[in-house]
Amino acid sequence: MMCALGLEAFRSSVDRTFRAIVMLLFIPVAAHAAADVEVGRSLFNKACSGCHSLSPDENYYAPNLYCVIDRPVASAPFERYTEDFRAFGATGLAWDSGTLSTFLSNPVAFVAKKIERPAPAILMRVAIESETDRQKVIEYLVSRCPD
Ligand code: HEC
Repeated sequence: MMCALGLEAFRSSVDRTFRAIVMLLFIPVAAHAAADVEVGRSLFNKACSGCHSLSPDENYYAPNLYCVIDRPVASAPFERYTEDFRAFGATGLAWDSGTLSTFLSNPVAFVAKKIERPAPAILMRVAIESETDRQKVIEYLVSRCPD
């Protein structure tokens, strides 16, 4: 009896230790992702938020970027999309993290290719050179979209 109890206790302590180890393995991954989102937030605040809001109701200087991933291009209730950006939207493309990253590396070149016009007159001309920075901004945008 003593022995059986002891074994139970031993098992549950092994279980607990195992769970603790598994948790410790995951904490750095979660912390790393949270840190990326924080960097993304600060990049967004510096480079994008002057024009873009993350609220679906705010579309003054630029279309809102609320839940922009999975959204069709040029589909926000923004009245001043340029003609070339509307033509880009008419290609039927929707944003995903891959297209958004390529777009942000050089918006004019990306749209030029999509609408087959060499120098599109679009108003979105801000590029982010570093691919990892683009990923962080995208992670931040995703983190601000409710599930
Ligand atoms: C100077 C103002 C300005 C800044 C800064 C700016 N944008 Fe834009 N952005 C615009 C405008 C205006 C449009 C609409 C383009 C058009 O109609 O030609 C746009 C369009 C976009 C679109 C397409 C939205 C849609 O509805 O399809 C995305 C995505 C975007 N911007 C992301 C960003 C990100 C990310 C940043 C920061 C790195 C940024 N923009 C910085 C003005 C800006």
